[in-house]
Amino acid sequence: MTTPVPAEREIVPRANLDFGLQGDEIPRYWFGGDAFRTRFFDALSTLFPQGERFFIESVRKFRDQVTDEDLQTEVKHFIFQEAQHTRVHNDFNDRLKRQGMAVDHIEKQQRDVLAWTCRKFPRWSLAQTAAAEHITALMSHFFLGNRDVFQEADPRIRAIYFWHGIEEIEHKAVAFDVMQRVAGVGYFMRCMAMLYVSFFFPLHTFMIMRHMLKVDGLSRGQRFRAWMKGLWWLYGPRGVFTRMLPHYLAYYLPGYHPWKHGETRSFSQWREAYSRHDGDPISATNTFVAAT
Ligand SMILES: [Fe+2]
Ligand SMILES: [Fe+2]
Repeated sequence: MTTPVPAEREIVPRANLDFGLQGDEIPRYWFGGDAFRTRFFDALSTLFPQGERFFIESVRKFRDQVTDEDLQTEVKHFIFQEAQHTRVHNDFNDRLKRQGMAVDHIEKQQRDVLAWTCRKFPRWSLAQTAAAEHITALMSHFFLGNRDVFQEADPRIRAIYFWHGIEEIEHKAVAFDVMQRVAGVGYFMRCMAMLYVSFFFPLHTFMIMRHMLKVDGLSRGQRFRAWMKGLWWLYGPRGVFTRMLPHYLAYYLPGYHPWKHGETRSFSQWREAYSRHDGDPISATNTFVAAT
């Protein structure tokens, strides 16, 4: 007999969501007119499609060895969700291409490195995937738990990130469980992979943002001010990343498991709003944010 999965851990496959990207023009700086915050999330968006393909491939390499039926189902839903994220972020990234951003170049560089890593080092790739999934899940917990941070963002893009965040929480333990229970990756490799991802993920994001802010035509002085203000927003004493630190560090605890950390109240509230609005992610997110 298998243990029933608690409601909060149920991975829901959602498809064909409409984020209204074909409607009225989205403002260039859709995050409250702030260049740094907008380009921070835009840079993440350019990394998602190739990153998610890598996550899927890393987990898929061990799929045949998964004997637990529940975990098999979770792997299937994990792959489905990541594929949906890729589809939506590709649509969004087309808009960035029209603004002159070198999305194809960014993706090509990323694809070459990740495909090689996945082919040559499957366990290390899975450890990197579990680490990256921890980072996306903790960011999701944070932004859902501090929804006011997104108060001034365009409702369409905000809905994309909240929907994506919800699904990242739903499937946050899948890569980790496959890594530990199936691939037998130990504590040392798990931590090394986290250190590796923690260094290269922000570095890559900031390099893309540097490119984007140049394409935007901001002067040197404007870019300097944007970076100073933005880095304070991320790393200041009340900064977004600073406040995520305890959750981030939990990954290095020997007995860590994704479901031992992160609050789930706001996560449940968004899912309730989503079913009340019959699967409309924009209305669900508007209701969710208004209830701050
Ligand atoms: Fe994703
Ligand atoms: Fe994910």
